[in-house]
Amino acid sequence: MSSLRHSWRVKMTAQPTAIRVHPGATLRGTVSVPGDKSLSHRALILGALAEGTSRVRGWLPAGDTLATLHCVQALGIAVERVDAHTLSVHGRGLNGLQAPPAPLDCVNAGTAMRLLAGVLAGQSFASTLDGSEQLRRRPMRRITEPLRQMGAQIADTDGHAPLHIRPATLRGMAHTLPVASAQVKSGLLLAGLFADGPTTVSEPGPARDHTERMLRAMGAQIAVDGFRVTLTPGAPLRPLDLTVPGDPSSAAFVLVAALLAGDGEVRVTGVGINPTRTGLLDILAAMGGEVVCEGERLEGGEPVADLRVRRAELRGTTVGGDLIVRAIDEFPALMVAATQAAGETLVRDAEELRVKETDRIAVMAAELRKMGATVEELPDGFRIVGPQRLRGAVVQGHDDHRVAMALAVAGLLADGETIVEDAACAHDSFPGFVETMQALGAEMTWCSHD
Ligand code: S3P
Repeated sequence: MSSLRHSWRVKMTAQPTAIRVHPGATLRGTVSVPGDKSLSHRALILGALAEGTSRVRGWLPAGDTLATLHCVQALGIAVERVDAHTLSVHGRGLNGLQAPPAPLDCVNAGTAMRLLAGVLAGQSFASTLDGSEQLRRRPMRRITEPLRQMGAQIADTDGHAPLHIRPATLRGMAHTLPVASAQVKSGLLLAGLFADGPTTVSEPGPARDHTERMLRAMGAQIAVDGFRVTLTPGAPLRPLDLTVPGDPSSAAFVLVAALLAGDGEVRVTGVGINPTRTGLLDILAAMGGEVVCEGERLEGGEPVADLRVRRAELRGTTVGGDLIVRAIDEFPALMVAATQAAGETLVRDAEELRVKETDRIAVMAAELRKMGATVEELPDGFRIVGPQRLRGAVVQGHDDHRVAMALAVAGLLADGETIVEDAACAHDSFPGFVETMQALGAEMTWCSHD
Protein backbone atom coordinates (compact mmCIF):
# COMPACT_ATOMS: atom_id res chain seq x y z
CA MET A 1 0.00 0.00 0.00
CA SER A 2 1.36 3.43 -0.82
CA SER A 3 1.85 5.95 1.93
CA LEU A 4 -1.00 8.39 1.33
CA ARG A 5 -0.37 10.40 4.43
CA HIS A 6 3.26 11.03 3.69
CA SER A 7 3.21 11.90 -0.01
CA TRP A 8 0.26 14.29 0.11
CA ARG A 9 1.25 16.03 3.36
CA VAL A 10 4.70 16.82 2.04
CA LYS A 11 3.33 18.31 -1.18
CA MET A 12 0.87 20.43 0.72
CA THR A 13 3.21 21.86 3.33
CA ALA A 14 5.81 22.76 0.69
CA GLN A 15 3.42 25.35 -0.77
CA PRO A 16 3.95 29.05 -0.05
CA THR A 17 1.07 30.59 1.87
CA ALA A 18 0.09 33.76 -0.02
CA ILE A 19 -1.41 34.35 -3.45
CA ARG A 20 -0.21 37.32 -5.53
CA VAL A 21 -2.67 38.57 -8.16
CA HIS A 22 -2.34 41.13 -10.92
CA PRO A 23 -5.38 42.40 -12.79
CA GLY A 24 -5.80 42.96 -16.49
CA ALA A 25 -5.45 39.49 -17.97
CA THR A 26 -8.52 38.23 -19.74
CA LEU A 27 -9.48 34.63 -19.20
CA ARG A 28 -10.18 31.98 -21.81
CA GLY A 29 -9.73 28.26 -22.25
CA THR A 30 -10.89 24.89 -20.97
CA VAL A 31 -10.11 23.49 -17.53
CA SER A 32 -11.40 20.87 -15.13
CA VAL A 33 -11.65 21.21 -11.37
CA PRO A 34 -10.80 18.61 -8.69
CA GLY A 35 -13.33 16.08 -7.43
CA ASP A 36 -16.29 17.04 -5.31
CA LYS A 37 -15.39 17.46 -1.64
CA SER A 38 -18.75 16.36 -0.25
CA LEU A 39 -18.72 13.19 -2.34
CA SER A 40 -15.07 12.46 -1.53
CA HIS A 41 -15.76 12.56 2.24
CA ARG A 42 -18.83 10.35 1.82
CA ALA A 43 -17.11 7.82 -0.44
CA LEU A 44 -14.55 7.17 2.32
CA ILE A 45 -17.00 7.00 5.21
CA LEU A 46 -19.62 4.91 3.41
CA GLY A 47 -16.95 2.83 1.68
CA ALA A 48 -15.56 1.97 5.13
CA LEU A 49 -18.98 0.54 6.10
CA ALA A 50 -19.47 -1.46 2.88
CA GLU A 51 -18.96 -5.21 2.66
CA GLY A 52 -15.93 -5.33 0.40
CA THR A 53 -13.74 -3.04 -1.68
CA SER A 54 -15.05 0.21 -3.14
CA ARG A 55 -13.33 1.81 -6.12
CA VAL A 56 -13.42 5.63 -6.10
CA ARG A 57 -12.13 7.51 -9.15
CA GLY A 58 -11.72 11.29 -9.26
CA TRP A 59 -11.30 11.42 -5.46
CA LEU A 60 -10.24 14.81 -4.10
CA PRO A 61 -6.86 14.76 -2.31
CA ALA A 62 -7.35 18.01 -0.35
CA GLY A 63 -6.82 19.09 3.26
CA ASP A 64 -10.40 18.37 4.36
CA THR A 65 -10.75 15.00 2.66
CA LEU A 66 -7.29 13.85 3.77
CA ALA A 67 -8.48 14.45 7.33
CA THR A 68 -11.36 12.04 6.69
CA LEU A 69 -8.99 9.56 5.08
CA HIS A 70 -6.76 9.54 8.15
CA CYS A 71 -9.78 9.14 10.46
CA VAL A 72 -11.08 6.19 8.45
CA GLN A 73 -7.63 4.58 8.48
CA ALA A 74 -7.46 5.08 12.26
CA LEU A 75 -10.75 3.16 12.46
CA GLY A 76 -9.01 0.14 10.95
CA ILE A 77 -9.92 0.62 7.28
CA ALA A 78 -7.24 -0.02 4.66
CA VAL A 79 -7.22 2.51 1.82
CA GLU A 80 -5.00 2.08 -1.24
CA ARG A 81 -4.00 4.74 -3.70
CA VAL A 82 -4.35 3.07 -7.09
CA ASP A 83 -3.25 6.20 -8.95
CA ALA A 84 -3.22 9.94 -8.27
CA HIS A 85 -7.01 10.21 -7.93
CA THR A 86 -8.19 6.63 -7.53
CA LEU A 87 -8.69 4.93 -4.20
CA SER A 88 -9.61 1.42 -3.15
CA VAL A 89 -11.42 1.49 0.18
CA HIS A 90 -11.46 -1.91 1.85
CA GLY A 91 -14.77 -1.75 3.70
CA ARG A 92 -15.29 -4.09 6.64
CA GLY A 93 -19.09 -3.97 6.83
CA LEU A 94 -21.36 -2.18 9.27
CA ASN A 95 -19.75 -3.88 12.27
CA GLY A 96 -16.15 -3.85 11.11
CA LEU A 97 -14.75 -0.57 12.45
CA GLN A 98 -12.11 -0.81 15.17
CA ALA A 99 -11.48 1.41 18.18
CA PRO A 100 -9.11 4.22 17.14
CA PRO A 101 -5.83 4.35 19.10
CA ALA A 102 -6.05 8.13 19.62
CA PRO A 103 -8.52 11.03 19.17
CA LEU A 104 -9.59 11.39 15.54
CA ASP A 105 -8.34 14.68 14.09
CA CYS A 106 -10.83 16.21 11.63
CA VAL A 107 -8.51 19.25 11.22
CA ASN A 108 -10.75 21.94 9.58
CA ALA A 109 -13.38 19.58 8.17
CA GLY A 110 -16.86 20.13 9.60
CA THR A 111 -18.24 17.48 7.24
CA ALA A 112 -15.84 14.87 8.63
CA MET A 113 -16.76 15.67 12.22
CA ARG A 114 -20.54 15.75 11.82
CA LEU A 115 -20.77 12.65 9.61
CA LEU A 116 -18.35 10.62 11.72
CA ALA A 117 -20.22 11.63 14.89
CA GLY A 118 -23.23 9.80 13.46
CA VAL A 119 -21.24 6.69 12.58
CA LEU A 120 -19.34 6.57 15.88
CA ALA A 121 -22.42 7.15 18.06
CA GLY A 122 -23.60 3.62 17.26
CA GLN A 123 -20.32 1.73 17.77
CA SER A 124 -19.41 -0.65 20.56
CA PHE A 125 -16.19 1.25 21.32
CA ALA A 126 -15.40 4.72 22.64
CA SER A 127 -13.87 7.42 20.46
CA THR A 128 -13.06 11.12 20.45
CA LEU A 129 -13.52 13.53 17.54
CA ASP A 130 -11.39 16.65 17.58
CA GLY A 131 -10.05 19.21 15.14
CA SER A 132 -8.27 22.50 14.65
CA GLU A 133 -8.93 25.60 16.75
CA GLN A 134 -11.13 26.77 13.87
CA LEU A 135 -13.23 23.58 13.91
CA ARG A 136 -13.45 23.72 17.72
CA ARG A 137 -15.23 27.06 17.36
CA ARG A 138 -17.99 25.65 15.12
CA PRO A 139 -21.37 24.60 16.55
CA MET A 140 -21.74 20.87 17.21
CA ARG A 141 -24.94 20.82 19.28
CA ARG A 142 -26.92 20.66 16.04
CA ILE A 143 -25.59 17.09 15.60
CA THR A 144 -24.95 15.98 19.21
CA GLU A 145 -28.46 16.90 20.47
CA PRO A 146 -30.45 14.83 17.95
CA LEU A 147 -27.94 11.98 18.31
CA ARG A 148 -28.49 12.05 22.08
CA GLN A 149 -32.23 11.83 21.48
CA MET A 150 -31.46 8.57 19.66
CA GLY A 151 -29.64 7.35 22.77
CA ALA A 152 -26.10 8.37 21.87
CA GLN A 153 -23.66 8.99 24.72
CA ILE A 154 -21.73 12.07 23.66
CA ALA A 155 -19.96 14.57 25.89
CA ASP A 156 -19.12 17.79 24.09
CA THR A 157 -17.33 20.88 25.33
CA ASP A 158 -20.06 23.48 25.73
CA GLY A 159 -21.55 22.53 22.37
CA HIS A 160 -18.17 22.27 20.65
CA ALA A 161 -15.47 19.73 19.85
CA PRO A 162 -13.80 17.72 21.20
CA LEU A 163 -16.67 15.22 21.19
CA HIS A 164 -16.19 12.21 23.48
CA ILE A 165 -18.40 9.35 22.32
CA ARG A 166 -19.16 6.25 24.38
CA PRO A 167 -20.75 2.99 23.21
CA ALA A 168 -24.55 3.17 23.02
CA THR A 169 -27.59 1.44 21.57
CA LEU A 170 -29.43 3.78 19.23
CA ARG A 171 -33.18 4.13 18.74
CA GLY A 172 -34.60 4.95 15.34
CA MET A 173 -36.75 8.09 15.46
CA ALA A 174 -38.05 11.07 13.48
CA HIS A 175 -36.09 14.33 13.53
CA THR A 176 -37.19 17.74 12.32
CA LEU A 177 -34.19 19.94 11.60
CA PRO A 178 -34.52 23.65 12.40
CA VAL A 179 -31.84 24.50 9.79
CA ALA A 180 -31.29 22.84 6.40
CA SER A 181 -27.92 21.14 6.84
CA ALA A 182 -26.65 18.23 4.78
CA GLN A 183 -23.99 17.52 7.39
CA VAL A 184 -26.55 17.09 10.16
CA LYS A 185 -28.98 15.16 7.94
CA SER A 186 -26.16 12.86 6.86
CA GLY A 187 -24.84 12.32 10.39
CA LEU A 188 -28.33 11.29 11.54
CA LEU A 189 -28.91 8.95 8.59
CA LEU A 190 -25.53 7.32 9.21
CA ALA A 191 -26.43 6.85 12.88
CA GLY A 192 -29.68 5.36 11.60
CA LEU A 193 -27.69 2.52 10.01
CA PHE A 194 -26.95 1.35 13.58
CA ALA A 195 -30.41 2.06 15.11
CA ASP A 196 -33.10 -0.43 16.09
CA GLY A 197 -35.72 1.00 13.68
CA PRO A 198 -36.28 3.58 10.93
CA THR A 199 -34.74 7.06 11.18
CA THR A 200 -36.56 9.95 9.49
CA VAL A 201 -35.04 13.38 8.91
CA SER A 202 -37.27 16.29 7.82
CA GLU A 203 -35.44 19.41 6.73
CA PRO A 204 -36.75 22.89 6.00
CA GLY A 205 -35.02 23.15 2.62
CA PRO A 206 -33.21 21.23 -0.10
CA ALA A 207 -29.83 20.49 1.52
CA ARG A 208 -27.49 18.45 -0.70
CA ASP A 209 -28.65 14.84 -1.03
CA HIS A 210 -25.39 13.03 -1.82
CA THR A 211 -25.63 10.75 1.23
CA GLU A 212 -29.09 9.56 0.26
CA ARG A 213 -28.03 8.91 -3.34
CA MET A 214 -24.92 7.03 -2.28
CA LEU A 215 -26.68 4.95 0.37
CA ARG A 216 -29.35 3.99 -2.15
CA ALA A 217 -26.71 2.98 -4.71
CA MET A 218 -25.15 0.78 -2.01
CA GLY A 219 -28.44 -1.06 -1.38
CA ALA A 220 -29.66 0.72 1.74
CA GLN A 221 -33.38 1.12 2.20
CA ILE A 222 -33.98 4.85 1.71
CA ALA A 223 -37.33 6.55 1.04
CA VAL A 224 -37.53 10.22 0.06
CA ASP A 225 -40.74 12.23 0.22
CA GLY A 226 -40.16 15.92 -0.50
CA PHE A 227 -37.75 17.21 2.12
CA ARG A 228 -38.26 14.12 4.31
CA VAL A 229 -35.97 11.10 4.10
CA THR A 230 -36.33 7.80 5.93
CA LEU A 231 -33.65 5.17 6.33
CA THR A 232 -34.69 1.70 7.43
CA PRO A 233 -31.67 -0.20 8.74
CA GLY A 234 -30.87 -3.84 8.19
CA ALA A 235 -29.51 -4.10 4.66
CA PRO A 236 -25.73 -4.58 4.34
CA LEU A 237 -24.02 -1.95 2.19
CA ARG A 238 -22.62 -3.01 -1.19
CA PRO A 239 -19.24 -1.52 -2.19
CA LEU A 240 -19.22 1.59 -4.33
CA ASP A 241 -17.96 1.91 -7.88
CA LEU A 242 -17.90 5.67 -8.15
CA THR A 243 -16.48 8.40 -10.36
CA VAL A 244 -16.53 11.64 -8.39
CA PRO A 245 -17.52 14.61 -10.57
CA GLY A 246 -15.74 17.97 -10.45
CA ASP A 247 -16.78 20.08 -7.47
CA PRO A 248 -19.32 22.76 -8.44
CA SER A 249 -18.19 24.79 -5.43
CA SER A 250 -14.64 24.89 -6.85
CA ALA A 251 -15.95 25.58 -10.37
CA ALA A 252 -17.77 28.60 -8.85
CA PHE A 253 -14.51 30.58 -8.60
CA VAL A 254 -13.64 29.90 -12.22
CA LEU A 255 -17.14 30.76 -13.41
CA VAL A 256 -17.33 34.04 -11.51
CA ALA A 257 -13.83 35.02 -12.68
CA ALA A 258 -14.81 34.21 -16.29
CA LEU A 259 -18.02 36.22 -16.07
CA LEU A 260 -16.15 39.24 -14.74
CA ALA A 261 -12.80 38.97 -16.54
CA GLY A 262 -13.43 36.61 -19.43
CA ASP A 263 -12.41 37.10 -23.02
CA GLY A 264 -13.97 34.56 -25.31
CA GLU A 265 -15.12 31.37 -23.81
CA VAL A 266 -14.22 29.57 -20.58
CA ARG A 267 -15.25 25.93 -20.23
CA VAL A 268 -15.13 23.81 -17.09
CA THR A 269 -15.55 20.14 -17.91
CA GLY A 270 -17.09 17.35 -15.85
CA VAL A 271 -18.74 19.38 -13.08
CA GLY A 272 -21.44 17.99 -10.77
CA ILE A 273 -24.80 19.68 -11.35
CA ASN A 274 -26.88 17.97 -8.68
CA PRO A 275 -29.84 20.39 -8.32
CA THR A 276 -29.12 20.77 -4.60
CA ARG A 277 -25.78 22.34 -5.57
CA THR A 278 -26.64 24.63 -8.51
CA GLY A 279 -28.05 27.64 -6.66
CA LEU A 280 -25.16 29.80 -7.88
CA LEU A 281 -25.99 29.07 -11.52
CA ASP A 282 -29.58 30.22 -10.88
CA ILE A 283 -28.40 33.36 -9.09
CA LEU A 284 -25.91 34.23 -11.84
CA ALA A 285 -28.61 33.70 -14.48
CA ALA A 286 -30.85 36.16 -12.61
CA MET A 287 -27.89 38.60 -12.69
CA GLY A 288 -27.54 38.25 -16.47
CA GLY A 289 -24.61 35.82 -16.36
CA GLU A 290 -25.59 32.71 -18.23
CA VAL A 291 -23.74 29.47 -17.54
CA VAL A 292 -24.56 26.92 -20.23
CA CYS A 293 -24.63 23.23 -19.23
CA GLU A 294 -23.60 20.90 -22.07
CA GLY A 295 -23.32 17.14 -22.41
CA GLU A 296 -25.43 16.41 -19.37
CA ARG A 297 -24.96 12.85 -18.14
CA LEU A 298 -25.32 10.71 -15.02
CA GLU A 299 -22.12 9.46 -13.36
CA GLY A 300 -22.39 7.28 -10.26
CA GLY A 301 -25.95 8.46 -9.65
CA GLU A 302 -25.00 12.16 -9.85
CA PRO A 303 -25.78 14.52 -12.78
CA VAL A 304 -22.66 15.95 -14.45
CA ALA A 305 -22.12 18.48 -17.29
CA ASP A 306 -19.54 20.65 -19.01
CA LEU A 307 -20.10 24.31 -18.16
CA ARG A 308 -19.54 27.12 -20.65
CA VAL A 309 -19.48 30.80 -19.78
CA ARG A 310 -18.61 34.17 -21.34
CA ARG A 311 -17.99 37.59 -19.86
CA ALA A 312 -21.25 39.37 -19.07
CA GLU A 313 -22.45 42.68 -17.68
CA LEU A 314 -24.06 41.61 -14.42
CA ARG A 315 -26.95 43.31 -12.65
CA GLY A 316 -27.89 43.03 -8.98
CA THR A 317 -30.45 40.57 -7.70
CA THR A 318 -32.26 39.51 -4.54
CA VAL A 319 -31.52 36.10 -3.03
CA GLY A 320 -33.28 34.30 -0.16
CA GLY A 321 -35.34 31.25 0.78
CA ASP A 322 -34.46 27.83 -0.64
CA LEU A 323 -31.83 29.29 -2.93
CA ILE A 324 -29.56 29.92 0.06
CA VAL A 325 -28.88 26.27 0.93
CA ARG A 326 -28.47 25.39 -2.78
CA ALA A 327 -25.67 27.97 -3.00
CA ILE A 328 -24.44 27.85 0.60
CA ASP A 329 -20.72 27.58 -0.16
CA GLU A 330 -20.78 30.06 -3.05
CA PHE A 331 -21.49 33.34 -1.22
CA PRO A 332 -17.86 34.50 -0.91
CA ALA A 333 -17.58 34.28 -4.72
CA LEU A 334 -21.02 35.84 -5.14
CA MET A 335 -20.02 38.82 -2.97
CA VAL A 336 -17.20 39.52 -5.38
CA ALA A 337 -19.59 39.27 -8.34
CA ALA A 338 -22.00 41.64 -6.57
CA THR A 339 -19.34 44.36 -6.35
CA GLN A 340 -19.20 44.34 -10.15
CA ALA A 341 -22.96 44.07 -10.82
CA ALA A 342 -25.03 47.14 -11.64
CA GLY A 343 -27.47 47.99 -8.85
CA GLU A 344 -28.29 46.30 -5.58
CA THR A 345 -27.54 42.69 -4.68
CA LEU A 346 -29.43 41.77 -1.53
CA VAL A 347 -28.96 38.43 0.25
CA ARG A 348 -31.22 37.47 3.20
CA ASP A 349 -31.96 34.21 5.12
CA ALA A 350 -28.25 33.35 5.04
CA GLU A 351 -27.32 33.44 8.76
CA GLU A 352 -25.69 30.01 8.30
CA LEU A 353 -22.83 31.85 6.58
CA ARG A 354 -21.83 33.10 10.02
CA VAL A 355 -20.96 29.57 11.26
CA LYS A 356 -18.89 28.28 8.37
CA GLU A 357 -15.07 28.00 8.58
CA THR A 358 -15.32 31.71 9.44
CA ASP A 359 -18.19 34.17 9.76
CA ARG A 360 -18.17 34.58 6.00
CA ILE A 361 -20.44 37.65 6.00
CA ALA A 362 -18.22 39.58 8.41
CA VAL A 363 -14.90 38.36 7.03
CA MET A 364 -15.71 38.96 3.36
CA ALA A 365 -17.17 42.39 4.15
CA ALA A 366 -14.03 43.36 6.10
CA GLU A 367 -11.61 42.12 3.44
CA LEU A 368 -13.53 43.60 0.49
CA ARG A 369 -13.56 46.94 2.34
CA LYS A 370 -9.75 46.80 2.38
CA MET A 371 -10.05 46.73 -1.42
CA GLY A 372 -12.23 49.85 -1.36
CA ALA A 373 -15.63 48.16 -1.58
CA THR A 374 -18.73 49.28 0.26
CA VAL A 375 -20.53 46.30 1.77
CA GLU A 376 -23.47 46.54 4.13
CA GLU A 377 -23.60 43.63 6.55
CA LEU A 378 -27.02 42.37 7.59
CA PRO A 379 -27.59 39.88 10.42
CA ASP A 380 -28.61 37.24 7.86
CA GLY A 381 -26.86 38.44 4.72
CA PHE A 382 -25.53 41.54 2.99
CA ARG A 383 -26.34 44.38 0.61
CA ILE A 384 -23.86 45.45 -2.05
CA VAL A 385 -24.57 48.19 -4.60
CA GLY A 386 -22.38 48.10 -7.67
CA PRO A 387 -20.56 48.42 -9.86
CA GLN A 388 -17.69 49.34 -7.58
CA ARG A 389 -14.06 49.95 -8.33
CA LEU A 390 -11.77 47.65 -6.36
CA ARG A 391 -8.19 48.56 -5.57
CA GLY A 392 -5.39 46.10 -5.00
CA ALA A 393 -4.61 45.51 -1.33
CA VAL A 394 -3.07 43.09 1.11
CA VAL A 395 -5.98 40.99 2.37
CA GLN A 396 -6.34 37.94 4.60
CA GLY A 397 -7.76 34.52 3.77
CA HIS A 398 -8.40 33.80 7.49
CA ASP A 399 -7.58 30.11 6.98
CA ASP A 400 -10.94 29.85 5.14
CA HIS A 401 -10.46 28.31 1.70
CA ARG A 402 -13.47 29.90 0.07
CA VAL A 403 -12.64 33.36 1.45
CA ALA A 404 -9.06 33.10 0.18
CA MET A 405 -10.09 32.02 -3.33
CA ALA A 406 -12.87 34.62 -3.58
CA LEU A 407 -10.40 37.38 -2.66
CA ALA A 408 -7.94 36.11 -5.28
CA VAL A 409 -10.73 36.41 -7.88
CA ALA A 410 -11.43 39.95 -6.60
CA GLY A 411 -7.76 40.71 -7.20
CA LEU A 412 -8.22 39.98 -10.92
CA LEU A 413 -10.62 42.94 -11.09
CA ALA A 414 -8.79 45.42 -8.87
CA ASP A 415 -6.45 48.27 -9.80
CA GLY A 416 -2.91 47.19 -8.90
CA GLU A 417 -1.50 44.21 -7.07
CA THR A 418 -3.43 42.16 -4.52
CA ILE A 419 -1.81 39.81 -2.04
CA VAL A 420 -4.04 37.28 -0.30
CA GLU A 421 -2.20 36.25 2.85
CA ASP A 422 -3.06 33.13 4.83
CA ALA A 423 -4.28 31.47 1.65
CA ALA A 424 -2.68 28.00 1.84
CA CYS A 425 -6.14 26.91 3.01
CA ALA A 426 -7.16 26.92 -0.68
CA HIS A 427 -5.74 23.37 -0.56
CA ASP A 428 -8.53 22.40 1.85
CA SER A 429 -10.90 22.04 -1.12
CA PHE A 430 -9.18 23.11 -4.38
CA PRO A 431 -5.58 21.96 -4.76
CA GLY A 432 -4.39 23.50 -8.02
CA PHE A 433 -6.62 26.60 -7.76
CA VAL A 434 -3.83 29.01 -8.68
CA GLU A 435 -2.54 26.75 -11.47
CA THR A 436 -6.08 26.40 -12.88
CA MET A 437 -6.49 30.18 -12.98
CA GLN A 438 -3.06 30.51 -14.60
CA ALA A 439 -4.10 28.01 -17.29
CA LEU A 440 -6.94 30.40 -18.18
CA GLY A 441 -4.47 33.30 -18.46
CA ALA A 442 -4.82 34.85 -15.00
CA GLU A 443 -1.80 36.57 -13.50
CA MET A 444 -1.87 34.71 -10.22
CA THR A 445 1.04 33.06 -8.40
CA TRP A 446 1.86 31.55 -5.05
CA CYS A 447 4.31 33.66 -3.05
CA SER A 448 5.78 33.76 0.43
CA HIS A 449 4.52 37.17 1.52
CA ASP A 450 3.42 36.29 5.05
C1 S3P B 1 -21.60 19.96 3.33
C2 S3P B 1 -22.73 20.62 3.77
C3 S3P B 1 -22.79 22.08 3.96
C4 S3P B 1 -21.65 22.78 3.24
C5 S3P B 1 -20.33 22.11 3.49
C6 S3P B 1 -20.36 20.66 2.99
C7 S3P B 1 -21.66 18.49 3.18
O1 S3P B 1 -22.67 22.36 5.34
O2 S3P B 1 -21.58 24.14 3.63
O3 S3P B 1 -19.29 22.79 2.82
O4 S3P B 1 -20.76 17.91 2.54
O5 S3P B 1 -22.61 17.89 3.70
P1 S3P B 1 -23.96 22.42 6.31
O6 S3P B 1 -24.50 21.05 6.45
O7 S3P B 1 -23.43 22.94 7.61
O8 S3P B 1 -24.92 23.37 5.65
